[in-house]
Amino acid sequence: MAVATESVWQDWQRSWDRQQEWYMPDREERFRVMLDMVEALVGAAPRVLDLACGTGSITDRLLRRFPAAGSTGVDLDPALLAIAAGSFAGDARVTLVTADLKDPRWTEKLPHDSYDAVLTATALHWLHTDALQTLYGQVAGLVRAGGVFLNADHMPDPATPAINAADRAQRHARMDRAKAEGALDWSQWWQLAAADPLLAAPTAERFAIYGEHADGDTPPLDWHARTLREAGFSEARGVWSSPSDGLVLGLK
Ligand SMILES: C[S@@+](CC[C@H](N)C(=O)[O-])C[C@H]1O[C@@H](n2cnc3c(N)ncnc32)[C@H](O)[C@@H]1O
Repeated sequence: MAVATESVWQDWQRSWDRQQEWYMPDREERFRVMLDMVEALVGAAPRVLDLACGTGSITDRLLRRFPAAGSTGVDLDPALLAIAAGSFAGDARVTLVTADLKDPRWTEKLPHDSYDAVLTATALHWLHTDALQTLYGQVAGLVRAGGVFLNADHMPDPATPAINAADRAQRHARMDRAKAEGALDWSQWWQLAAADPLLAAPTAERFAIYGEHADGDTPPLDWHARTLREAGFSEARGVWSSPSDGLVLGLK
């Protein structure tokens, strides 16, 4: 097996961030608001669960801003977890767990049974609403009293189809311009990963698990807030939104 230095993994980490930013130019802003809410509600040394962590982008921002924090990253994708493992190698604050969030027993794989904050971004739209509702019930069991859950994801409002269409057209025009200047999309990024001897094997594995992309739903922000309250959060509402995306906060 090929051996990689830390900087190779950092390069993959940065490349992942650029690819995600092509879809979401305000991605850093949503991370900032997410961490502002963490600091406001549970302080600057939280125990965090980075749910569907991918390469660990949330964990990276968390530890840069709050060096006394700790993070458990959980995901199912072996290639993205390999990048996370390489990037955070030797950092005792980070534990990575391989689990399928649709497995009813996935929480048993975690090193802790309680967290100050469960954070997730651009991931839960890979689940259908029935699975997401079940997941919210499990997350409510993991967040301590007074702790928080924050989910930044695509949350278009189905009541405004003309606004959604105009926003989408404008976003795609910008993406087309960035593409012409060399930005990588999802499938081009995965082609690069498949061609790297370091990532070829876990990339083949992830395509066997997911195919190109799992199929899920994008319910609106009020669905998330209501479902979190039904799952046992005392308060839940949006704390940031863009024309297509939202950041929902549940306070336990
Ligand atoms: C677009 S990525 C986002 C990753 C990261 N949160 C970020 O913001 O860069 C979506 C992630 O959700 C993960 N995911 C989707 N369905 C999952 C499941 N059933 N169990 C575990 N992880 C899942 C994927 O493996 C992938 O890493």
